[in-house]
Amino acid sequence: MRTIGVFDSGVGGVSVLKEVIKEFPYDNIIYFGDSLHAPYGDREIEEIRALCLKVSDFLVYEKKVDAIVIACNTATGAAMHIMKERYHVPVVGVVDNGVKEGIRITKNKNIGVIATPATIKMDIYLKEFHRIDKNLNIYQVKCPLFVGMIEKGWIDNEESSMLIKSYLNNLPQNVDTLILGCTHYPLIEKYIKRHFIGNIVDPAKETAKSLKMIIGDGIYTQKTFTKFFVSGDSQKFKEVAQEFLGTTIDEVEKIIL
Ligand code: DGL
Repeated sequence: MRTIGVFDSGVGGVSVLKEVIKEFPYDNIIYFGDSLHAPYGDREIEEIRALCLKVSDFLVYEKKVDAIVIACNTATGAAMHIMKERYHVPVVGVVDNGVKEGIRITKNKNIGVIATPATIKMDIYLKEFHRIDKNLNIYQVKCPLFVGMIEKGWIDNEESSMLIKSYLNNLPQNVDTLILGCTHYPLIEKYIKRHFIGNIVDPAKETAKSLKMIIGDGIYTQKTFTKFFVSGDSQKFKEVAQEFLGTTIDEVEKIIL
């Protein structure tokens, strides 16, 4: 039976996990949230890379996963190319999948990207969009306070609403498509929708599908599991993840790598 490893800097990656669970009902899944080190997006690229390799080594060498989903844009930008060389298992990230979907959906070629400071600094979205189509206008806005806010579960209150509004105000009016360039942001998507009228792209679905293209369907042999590991506050993780997934999580194991 196969096991798929999914990781993020914290709880945000559950937005991708949700789609992976849908696409792979016959496979085991191990989720790792490196919440002790969140937000990754405020760190130096070298530091983010080292953290990603530590988590992925755990997934590949200790948990023996058969594939890795980098459920984090910041980690995708900082470490995906190295991870692909380092491991013998398939590795998929979120950025190229978000880009594909954005291009499919935009009508006027004006695309906004909201993401962490590190993701914006690396220009990973800008580069991938322009690799495919140089005529796209890409408007990037960094949202440094979102990840911390979501990790703490401060989602539905006046302050978070004002913060969302103030970040989105930085986008030009003609943007018709907005990429949620951080996997934490789907957790506040319904609030983002109050301040952005247009298409919203969450790369999660396409990411899970892209893994399916590589490894195909699993085969049912026995009851499957989804296990959760976090390096930070397991109780807070559980609360926020359960709320988003709409299911009960039995156990979240705290482990510091
Ligand atoms: N979910 C991560 C991403 O997609 C957030 C990174 C962070 O911890 O800042 O970029």
